[in-house]
Amino acid sequence: MPRIIACPADEPALALGDLVAALNDDGFDPADEESFAAAGPLLKRLADNRAFLAELALAELKDRCTRQSLENRYSSQVLMLHRASEKYFIRANFWPSPRDSLFKASGTSPFFYHVPHDHNFSFLTVGYLGPGYWSEYYEYDFEKVVGLPGEKVDLRFVEKSRLEQGKVMLYRAHRDVHDQLPADEMSVSINIMHATPCLPFLDQYRFDPKTCEIVSILNRSATEALLALAANHDGGNARDLVESYAAGHPSDRIRFAALRELAAAEGEPEAGMERLDAGAHSANAFVAAMSARELARIRAHHHWIQC
Ligand SMILES: [Fe+2]
Repeated sequence: MPRIIACPADEPALALGDLVAALNDDGFDPADEESFAAAGPLLKRLADNRAFLAELALAELKDRCTRQSLENRYSSQVLMLHRASEKYFIRANFWPSPRDSLFKASGTSPFFYHVPHDHNFSFLTVGYLGPGYWSEYYEYDFEKVVGLPGEKVDLRFVEKSRLEQGKVMLYRAHRDVHDQLPADEMSVSINIMHATPCLPFLDQYRFDPKTCEIVSILNRSATEALLALAANHDGGNARDLVESYAAGHPSDRIRFAALRELAAAEGEPEAGMERLDAGAHSANAFVAAMSARELARIRAHHHWIQC
């Protein structure tokens, strides 16, 4: 489960600007677990500042949420607190309980409740308000996983607990898994998120803890949709780009998507299947397995194509 960060109890509360100034120091590196963990007590001190969040929310409302419109790529569950750096951003998250009208109106899915998942980024979190959302925590070994839907994973249950006010935890990318459950009362958490330009290409999984399987890859990027368009662009002008992605994009998911779209764009079904057959023999385990699946899917329906 996420690392619980012990924090001194007698430190003074911190203003958001002071936290930002400390994190902007070159010594802070969210890619380094120990450096990230060392920022935990600072986040706790921000959480001890009981006025700043309401003041910031009011200021945003008075400014017609201009900054949120520019910087917040999440739903209204999230209030972006600071985003000015390539390496991190700070946000507040609202966790409604089943008794809240928001929950009754929207259901569980907008809040990621009952969707067991890992994260493709590390983040520090602190309970700011309320009893905190519940989680059933698991861990797994990312290095042993190919990333295929239906793949068996050694998912190890750790405990069920909640993010109480003042509790600081470091969620570690590709390691900590949680099945997030509704808070008993409306709750708020504050995160320092590791930001990296690689994020869209790093996979985040949804799991089924009952079967210990990967259900799906949760994240999608615009690249995949654009590859389908590029592979079919009139005159073939964009195919070289799709070919280069299929040959060597650092993300297995993007490599396979490029290969799949090239196969789908072939004029003759047999040519598409030849491409997929070559992919099924790739040295990359994800590309090979997904190509083999796609090939099997097309072969199963090939007689319809021939009719
Ligand atoms: Fe999560």
